[in-house]
Amino acid sequence: MKRLLFFLLMTSRLLAQDGGQLYTLYCSACHGADGKGATGGQFPPLANSAWPVGNAERSIKIVLLGLNGPVEVNGKTYNLEMPPQGAAITDENIAAILTHVRSSWGNKASAVSVDQVKKVRASLGKRAEHWTADELLKLHPLENVKPPIEKLISHYYKGSFQKMPDFSKLTAAAVEEEPSGLIDYSDYANTDNFAMSWDGEIFTPAGEHEWILDSDDGSRLLIDGNMIAEIPTIGPIGRTVRKKVKLTQGMHKIRLEYFEFSGQEGLSVGVKIAGKPKVKWLSKETAGKPGKSWPEIMLKPSADRAVIYRNFIQGTTARGIGVGFPGGVNMAFSGDHLTAELIWSGDFIDAGHHWTDRGVGNEAPASDQVLKASNLSAYAFTSEAASAWPATSQVATRFRGYQLDDHGNPNFAIEVSGLRVLDQYRAETSPAPTLVRRVRLTEKPSAPVSLLLLNGTNVTQVSAQECQVGDVTIKVEGAAIRYANNTAILDLKEGEVIVRYTWK
Ligand code: HEC
Repeated sequence: MKRLLFFLLMTSRLLAQDGGQLYTLYCSACHGADGKGATGGQFPPLANSAWPVGNAERSIKIVLLGLNGPVEVNGKTYNLEMPPQGAAITDENIAAILTHVRSSWGNKASAVSVDQVKKVRASLGKRAEHWTADELLKLHPLENVKPPIEKLISHYYKGSFQKMPDFSKLTAAAVEEEPSGLIDYSDYANTDNFAMSWDGEIFTPAGEHEWILDSDDGSRLLIDGNMIAEIPTIGPIGRTVRKKVKLTQGMHKIRLEYFEFSGQEGLSVGVKIAGKPKVKWLSKETAGKPGKSWPEIMLKPSADRAVIYRNFIQGTTARGIGVGFPGGVNMAFSGDHLTAELIWSGDFIDAGHHWTDRGVGNEAPASDQVLKASNLSAYAFTSEAASAWPATSQVATRFRGYQLDDHGNPNFAIEVSGLRVLDQYRAETSPAPTLVRRVRLTEKPSAPVSLLLLNGTNVTQVSAQECQVGDVTIKVEGAAIRYANNTAILDLKEGEVIVRYTWK
């Protein structure tokens, strides 16, 4: 027994020591030898931070792929970039480093095993993007932070309700504590004929706060016993009710009642605290995202850098490359059709579907205002092999990949019959959302190279410099539009052509 204890002590010491040395080597330059953040706290601390303790998966993920964008540590917000370390550090060493971090400078959390690191690494698949704090918090909420609703308890009732039942007359079939503090019916998702209620407490500062409620089917929100919002009838998501209520500072009772008759379900409830920019969601689902079984991970560009999403995107081909530009201009380039095939405004894409293990199938753009492929180019392409660069027996086209500039704007390279075409995209937001495309031939071609700009039955010819399709206006500089059989074609000779897609 004594020997075993000694052995355990020695091995844990050895590990800790190794971990300590490895920490010095790989982390201390930024996080400080004392874990308080290097250069006088310019970098975030690991000592006393809620991030590295608790669920180890969170910090393993950070070490493997890095972290980008705003993150709050001990009440201070940092907005920096931690480079990914996964390629440089072995699973064994990551386990040793994190074990050290989790048991040093006052941190108290369990050791991290090599197996845990291996599993997390494997689960990330081909993902290479940095994490954002928002994304990680959805996957692995910080443990020692108060839940959105405290002392939350749910009641589940069976019954076929077509309007809000009188809950006082019902007998619960299940009662549960909800430590997540989130209103969540997912235990009963995809079932019909039930009702639920949730009771808990929520802290608010003093002020007039706006409450937001939406549901499929009906729901009702009560604060301190007063009904403040109601969706009384059967119907789909999209019947949002907003209500401002003046509250004192302190804890308030919150109650939510909900019934589901049949078909799809959905329930979102949130509060916008006076003076805060964002809605705080009190439900697992957030507005307008009914019935999803994966966490929402909304990909967002930063203020001056576009974000790339490489995965199956609904509406384009398998080799779709999504680009979310700052300012809510988005597009998907098809690596098969070799052109921008979808453009949309607003939110970019919800990566939660693909980045969690349920990721199968296509993800649709996050906004409904999508200019479909049929409006832009591709719907008349008959096969995956067809492209916007009409191939003939003499002309073969090939995708040669892409590069990103300093702002994350992509520059696609396409080989057309031995010539290289560069097809670059960026966004402008004023006066209207605009996708700006710059097409360049790197050499003078012996014959014009034709780019199929539009292919559809609803092309409106305005001039040789301008055409319209649906809500999109397309303006061209440096070449003339040739219209033929409801297509719009650009014959590229030399120099560059600018194409501007503007929409309402
Ligand atoms: C080149 C500098 C750098 C190195 C090296 C580095 N980090 Fe970081 N780390 C950062 C920055 C910067 C952030 C905050 C990123 C942000 O603002 O989004 C961060 C954030 C974190 C966080 C979450 C926030 C916090 O402070 O708790 C953890 C955990 C973390 N790093 C662990 C590590 C570990 C473990 C290592 C060594 C394997 C490491 N880091 C190496 C710069 C670095």
